[in-house]
Amino acid sequence: MLVPGKAWMAACARHDARAAAGTMRGSKPMTGETGMTAISNWPIRQGRDTDGPGIIALIASCWARYPGIRMDVDGEMPELHTLATYYSQQDGALWIAGTDSRVAGMIATRPLDSGTWEICRVYVDPALHGAGLGHALLDHAERHAIAAGAQCLTLWSDTRFGRAHRFYEKRSYLRHGPVRVLADISNSLEFGYAKPVNGLELLDIAAATAAAARLADILVACVQTSASLEFLPPLAAGKARAFWHQIAADVGAGRRALAVGWRDGVLLAAGLLDLATPETQRHRAIVRLVMVHPEARRAGLGRQVLRRLEQAAVAHGRTLLTLETRAGDPEEPFFQAEGWTEAGRIPDAISGAEASAHAAVVFWKRAG
Ligand SMILES: CC(C)(COP(=O)(O)OP(=O)(O)OC[C@H]1O[C@@H](n2cnc3c(N)ncnc32)[C@H](O)[C@@H]1OP(=O)(O)O)[C@@H](O)C(=O)NCCC(=O)NCCS
Repeated sequence: MLVPGKAWMAACARHDARAAAGTMRGSKPMTGETGMTAISNWPIRQGRDTDGPGIIALIASCWARYPGIRMDVDGEMPELHTLATYYSQQDGALWIAGTDSRVAGMIATRPLDSGTWEICRVYVDPALHGAGLGHALLDHAERHAIAAGAQCLTLWSDTRFGRAHRFYEKRSYLRHGPVRVLADISNSLEFGYAKPVNGLELLDIAAATAAAARLADILVACVQTSASLEFLPPLAAGKARAFWHQIAADVGAGRRALAVGWRDGVLLAAGLLDLATPETQRHRAIVRLVMVHPEARRAGLGRQVLRRLEQAAVAHGRTLLTLETRAGDPEEPFFQAEGWTEAGRIPDAISGAEASAHAAVVFWKRAG
């Protein structure tokens, strides 16, 4: 449901994108060292086949943190000896963060099919975790793939690498597809992650769950600048995450549809459609929320999200859409511009941070 195109994650080599474990920005930097210092100490360059021993040592140091994950280079990953050649033969690329004598981090990318590029082998030396090297490496690989025409980015991550999952989700990747079984000596199971570079998707429950933290960040920023949403500022991050967690459950139960939008690989917008209408209103759906990150507004994302929700309503057999927003806010002209008709105003319906209550505008639109 997340990414169009057939077999977008097929033909991936074993153990690719295995561990970005611990590369989250925001965790504690190394003592006495800022993230920027750590990054400038380890410049990123193209990988070489002579990096083989350093690459193997780096991966071993990352895997050593996970009991049960074992390494048999010659039996299961012989390509590590000449990884630069391995990726260049697939029209991909490998980068190393480090010096000639030490591999501190690595990443690779390669094209799959129909505009999909896979992010592979994301590893950072555990001693450098939390200093921003993972972000810098991923920026590098994503920029390369996008410049080469990637429309969708994918990766696999071992189900045991929880910190890596939070890192990928922070980077706007969402869970996609079934768990992959590698049948290797580590009994590896892997989650698939994906994101379109630019585009909109309706999320299933797995993707909606993975999106919760990112959507919470956007909601907190939107509540800070808009009174039309259902929360008062300042919205606590935990409360926002609990909201999206509940929405993921509703998506799974078919009570709501959730559309999200990416620009340049960053998840920036979302919209919610309420499908749980009474049995006398099964032909109706309610737009509950359309939000675009404040820094990404007036670039057409809101319009795209709203239209995607309208399509979802039609797909669910709904012929009438309604919504409510606060009178006088920028959201009012937004819905008018999208062809919604004002049904009327309810005085004093919405109270904001300030003392006086505001009118709500009720809009409707035929769907289909
Ligand atoms: C409402 C919101 C979703 C619009 O998102 P957006 O990405 O900025 O909207 P778009 O760029 O797609 O704008 C589409 C059209 O709507 C109208 N519009 C959008 N924002 C507007 C504003 N601030 N003032 C006047 N018109 C506006 C314009 O006609 C615009 O087309 P244009 O830019 O070509 O003139 C965004 O402002 C937002 O997230 N607000 C906070 C959340 C909220 O309150 N949502 C509504 C409650 S459900």
